[in-house]
Amino acid sequence: MTAVELNQITRNSEGEDHNTGGPARPYGGLSRLYDYEYAGFDSDIYFYLERLRTTRIHGLILDLGAGTGRVALALARAGYFVVGLDNSPAMLRRARGNRRRLAGEAALRVKFSQQDMTGFRFRRSFAAAIISFSTLAMLTAPEQRLSCLTRIHEHLEPGGMLFIDLFAPLSRPRPNQDQPRLTNRSFHLPPYGHLVEKKVEERRNQQNKTIDVTYHYRKKRYRGEKILGEFTISFILADLTFTDVEAALEKSGFDVEEVHGDYQGCPFGPASPRMIFEARRR
Ligand SMILES: C[S@@+](CC[C@H](N)C(=O)[O-])C[C@H]1O[C@@H](n2cnc3c(N)ncnc32)[C@H](O)[C@@H]1O
Repeated sequence: MTAVELNQITRNSEGEDHNTGGPARPYGGLSRLYDYEYAGFDSDIYFYLERLRTTRIHGLILDLGAGTGRVALALARAGYFVVGLDNSPAMLRRARGNRRRLAGEAALRVKFSQQDMTGFRFRRSFAAAIISFSTLAMLTAPEQRLSCLTRIHEHLEPGGMLFIDLFAPLSRPRPNQDQPRLTNRSFHLPPYGHLVEKKVEERRNQQNKTIDVTYHYRKKRYRGEKILGEFTISFILADLTFTDVEAALEKSGFDVEEVHGDYQGCPFGPASPRMIFEARRR
């Protein structure tokens, strides 16, 4: 594959969308912080590189829910040709900005396309597809997930691989409705090192098999307690079990070959922090 061919695959699929966030697309509102928040997170990337090598994938890779390009750009840097798909214009703007900072040839190996993962279309087929970092859980209805997996099946070469990384069902406690799980983290923003404090509130809705998630962000001066800004974003994730994902993959034409429980590639088990499906297109 050449960079010119890659251009032709993506050129006609850029849609117009001015949505910059909201509950349906929370990442629109998060795009400015995303890269700083996950600056140190790359263990999944080493996992994908190892699995792509082991499963002998050499062709074009589709990264669904590519966001700011964290995974897609790293794969391009490692020599793969990648198309990153996302429905958030704000995340894709960041992704394209990050691509400009890639050295030399690597920037030519990655393209981004604004489409929805439940109904995308490309003229080329792919050797592998990746849905990283729990992104499949953002499709809360079973029909949406099935539609996404069916589109992927249509776009993969026979024998092509699909990797889906999800949080493991038991990696989060099962609080009842009145007791949300609270976690805190913080990170710094350049150029002044302002501190961003993030409080995550998760409430399991067992009836709907969903998790209501709220992120509260508070930006403070590097030193002192002065608050420079605050905002809150809420969205819903599907609370997916092993069986839910396995059944959806089977139904949409995939054979599950392995399920890993972490980014070191250990087999999935009851105490695993992640649930990473590796499935082959029939
Ligand atoms: C958790 S972020 C992951 C970003 C990136 N893959 C990574 O690992 O850093 C989820 C991404 O999926 C995108 N997304 C959510 N629903 C989508 C949909 N229906 N179609 C396309 N992209 C979607 C969001 O805009 C966001 O960029």
